[in-house]
Amino acid sequence: MARNEMENGRREAGINKRIGFPIWIFNLIKMNLPPYQKFPELISDTIVLRNIQQDDIADLVEISFYNARPASTTEDAAEMQNKINLDYQNGSSIHWGIADKKTNKILGTLGYYRGFENGVGELGCVLKPEFRGNGLMTAAIQLAVEFGINEMGLTKIGAVTSKENAPAIQLLERLNFIKTKDLDDDEIEYLFVK
Ligand SMILES: CC(C)(COP(=O)(O)OP(=O)(O)OC[C@H]1O[C@@H](n2cnc3c(N)ncnc32)[C@H](O)[C@@H]1OP(=O)(O)O)[C@@H](O)C(=O)NCCC(=O)NCCS
Repeated sequence: MARNEMENGRREAGINKRIGFPIWIFNLIKMNLPPYQKFPELISDTIVLRNIQQDDIADLVEISFYNARPASTTEDAAEMQNKINLDYQNGSSIHWGIADKKTNKILGTLGYYRGFENGVGELGCVLKPEFRGNGLMTAAIQLAVEFGINEMGLTKIGAVTSKENAPAIQLLERLNFIKTKDLDDDEIEYLFVK
């Protein structure tokens, strides 16, 4: 094999040709993943992304999910929050409450879930129905993407939504996520690339 072809092959396979390590190992070293010494609080003109406290839980029942299962009671939502906190401590997720900047009330949640393999974060988000349509999730995702890329060292951010979910599709496309894959169950994958 010609030397150029061999080098191209190694580049495609993500292998640094001088040292022979896969590039994802270098990316991992450069990453700054959870948990953090202080839970990161992110602020825009209208909202604050902050850690969820015990007394927020009652406000969150209708938008609490864990592994796609919805909560039905406050106890259920509290149990899910405990699991989410464990995932944060284990370094596989970060989950923010989206709080109104004036009242500090939680209006929704968003975060990165299910690990950060190969520098990719999986974004999920949900807003309580009465607060939708005001640009709040646009602001929240902008903060989370900026933090994900600049502070955590993510190189890609993925999001999955159903083909019927027009508000989510509009939201992701407005924020420069690109549709990358049709998935099973009428879902589509979007990616934001650094
Ligand atoms: C999808 C979802 C998160 C969108 O939240 P949202 O806050 O309503 O979304 P946006 O920030 O984009 O705001 C929506 C509308 O507010 C309008 N808006 C008002 N003020 C705005 C501002 N200052 N900036 C941006 N948009 C603004 C936008 O024009 C937008 O309308 P459009 O979609 O008709 O263009 C919300 O509908 C939801 O929680 N759905 C259920 C869960 C879900 O589907 N999650 C997505 C998984 S990927």
